[in-house]
Amino acid sequence: MGTNDNEESVFTPWEVRGKVDYQRLMKEFGTEPVNEKLLNRIKKHTSGSLHFMLRRGIFFTHRDMNWILDEYEKGNKFYLYTGRGPSDHTHIGHIVPWIFTKWLQEKFKTKFIFQLTDDEKYVFADKLEMEDTYSYALDNALDIIALGFDSKNTEILIDTDNAKTFYKIALPVAKRITYSTVKSSFGFDNSMNIGGIFYTSIQAVPAILESVRQGKNIPCLIPHAIDQDPHFRLARDVLPKLGYYKPANIQCKFVPALSGPDGKMSSSNPNETIFVTDDPKSIKKKINKYAFSGGRDTVSEHREKGGDPDIDVSFQWLKILFEPDDAKLNKIEEEYRSGEMLSGELKAILIEKMVKFLEDHQDAREKAKDKLDDFLVKD
Ligand code: TRP
Repeated sequence: MGTNDNEESVFTPWEVRGKVDYQRLMKEFGTEPVNEKLLNRIKKHTSGSLHFMLRRGIFFTHRDMNWILDEYEKGNKFYLYTGRGPSDHTHIGHIVPWIFTKWLQEKFKTKFIFQLTDDEKYVFADKLEMEDTYSYALDNALDIIALGFDSKNTEILIDTDNAKTFYKIALPVAKRITYSTVKSSFGFDNSMNIGGIFYTSIQAVPAILESVRQGKNIPCLIPHAIDQDPHFRLARDVLPKLGYYKPANIQCKFVPALSGPDGKMSSSNPNETIFVTDDPKSIKKKINKYAFSGGRDTVSEHREKGGDPDIDVSFQWLKILFEPDDAKLNKIEEEYRSGEMLSGELKAILIEKMVKFLEDHQDAREKAKDKLDDFLVKD
């Protein structure tokens, strides 16, 4: 779905292979484009400014954003929910929706619930034991804290630490989803273990957790990457049957892997991926050695014909994450397209930006170790 029609294409919340066609996904999933009208509406509440991920179409599609804003304007404030399956250290693709969520939290002064699905990663990954997924959950929590979320307004919930709360809320959801729906929504075959079949009901829980706690319906907005959509399509179908609002979504594109511009970064190949814990030397080495380039084969050809930023992974990473300044990004784009800037020079700009970003992040991550207790919520 939403990928090229070749045998290599897979698109599920657990695996994305092949070229991703975002316009087609939007059609197949039935989501709305983030258009000028919506952006102008958001601006009214954000002192006229828009996050660069909105300006640049990184967050490109949504469901019910207008309803979220209608309710907000009536004084019925939403809360934010997103999450992470802790199967490894965090990589730079994961933090894109989190950075955007932080901006939303600041602008709309909302509560934020972050779910760490150690249970999910345990049932879906062959090689991980529960101790592994739990320790990655604690590790990944540091990245959320390091990004600077407000501890008074942010909760981090590791699923297995909240089993009692989650199970009770998940059961009525699970009761209303059939095996055949789950099979077709996620592409499971009969070999899927029954933990995997049940799991989606757990991911629905934080979308109504505030409503359950407060005993009244509270709108929920979920910023997330487009691959998680099947979970929330199911949640939107089931939750109204239980008397709750449908959660709204705003969805982003993927950060491409180093090897090419069309797909999704994955932890399974460390040479394709930059982890937020990588040191400057390995960042430099990976980018110089593996980053797919839109440059030409020879310098003279490049000077003559120019590079192609649209397929150049280094440029894409600057655009998605590491160069928030539009004027600077545009200048890089022009110079690269005209041939004035060489591929090596573009990579050097990215390396410098990234090293600075990740060094700051790693410092904040160290400090976050003392703050874990302010964020973690347990049964
Ligand atoms: N299933 C997600 C993953 O594998 C984790 C997750 C849980 C999540 N709840 C979420 C992601 C809400 C986005 C939004 O990473």
